[in-house]
Amino acid sequence: MKKINRRNWFRMGGMAGLAAVLTPTEVFAGNSDNFVPGPALSPIAKLNSNENPFGPSQKVRQAMIDNFDLGCRYPYGKMNELAEMIAKKEGVSRAHVVMAAGSTEGLKATGLTFGINGGEIITADPVYKSLLTYAEQFGAYINRVPVTKDMGHDLEEMERRINNQTSLVFLCNPNNPTGTLVPKDQLMDFANTVSDKTTLFSDEAYYDFITEPNYPSMIEMVKKGKNVIVSRTFSKVYGLAGLRVGYLIARPDIAERVRVNVMAKCNMMANIGAITALDDPEFYYMSLQKNMAAKKHIYSVLDDLGLRYVPSHTNFVFFHTGREIGGLMQEMRAKDVIIGRPFPPLTDWCRISTGRMEDVEKFGDALKEVMG
Ligand SMILES: Cc1ncc(COP(=O)(O)O)c(C=O)c1O
Repeated sequence: MKKINRRNWFRMGGMAGLAAVLTPTEVFAGNSDNFVPGPALSPIAKLNSNENPFGPSQKVRQAMIDNFDLGCRYPYGKMNELAEMIAKKEGVSRAHVVMAAGSTEGLKATGLTFGINGGEIITADPVYKSLLTYAEQFGAYINRVPVTKDMGHDLEEMERRINNQTSLVFLCNPNNPTGTLVPKDQLMDFANTVSDKTTLFSDEAYYDFITEPNYPSMIEMVKKGKNVIVSRTFSKVYGLAGLRVGYLIARPDIAERVRVNVMAKCNMMANIGAITALDDPEFYYMSLQKNMAAKKHIYSVLDDLGLRYVPSHTNFVFFHTGREIGGLMQEMRAKDVIIGRPFPPLTDWCRISTGRMEDVEKFGDALKEVMG
């Protein structure tokens, strides 16, 4: 195995460069338990929020502890340092990067910027709602296009609905809650056509979990100067959901329009945690491996029960329960398993997050009792 140290890591371009030369198993050639701090094991399997229970990594914890004194200082210098690192990682300038307290803040700031004064936003349904519900509060009209029978985005219909009121097309790719990925060839055509007519937003919260080789990020469109905004987060593969760090990448003029509507930004510990996480490939690849193993277990439980599910490109699986989700949530909760919330109109489907193997095993046992 090639030796990875900090200098090599940055020379190779961080995670992206490393992924090009090594498999996850090569990078993470060790005993996984060395890298598993996470919170203490709870009797409750919390599998409802698509979190990564292995974070923060040991390295991130230590960095935050070592820098705790900085809690009395304003965080803007550190935020800038993080933004510079992100710009380098994504191959864009600092002016393209909008820092936010979790990608949710970036989503909401975008919803406000493009939704205010009656802007129309076209989106799939069901989809991740933060941007949309926030925009609605400022008077936006949300034009919802049902997902296809395979649970994917109906790109043709989304494109067909663009009109002169449309201020934004919101794409969640991979999609939450369905876990689907837009096929690569369709994605580029869609992005080109849509961004010539209006602004395209691509929520890439789960981008790191995609295993399809050379799957393009919409950041490539931003680099071409297209009318595209991309959101990313440290909440998933980096395991920092509680710290609240996310960012947008957009052309500098678009980035500035959204940036002025960001309210909180990232706090000092969040910036330090994220800076350290970007330099922690062992944890990153361990998280991907753990996610794959947990997902496989979930698939095998669903196969055993004969329940239909959507192959997932994320850290959760969407499956057909054939019964109302409200009752199932209660029965699973009684067995100490918290499953995902309802996603109307698909209320006889369930979203289950990956987690520690103990937790997904508990989910499997409970589901077999409840559904079997
Ligand atoms: C598609 C999608 N976008 C954004 C978010 C929010 O992430 P963050 O923690 O960065 O606010 C989530 C969280 O589950 C998500 O599923």
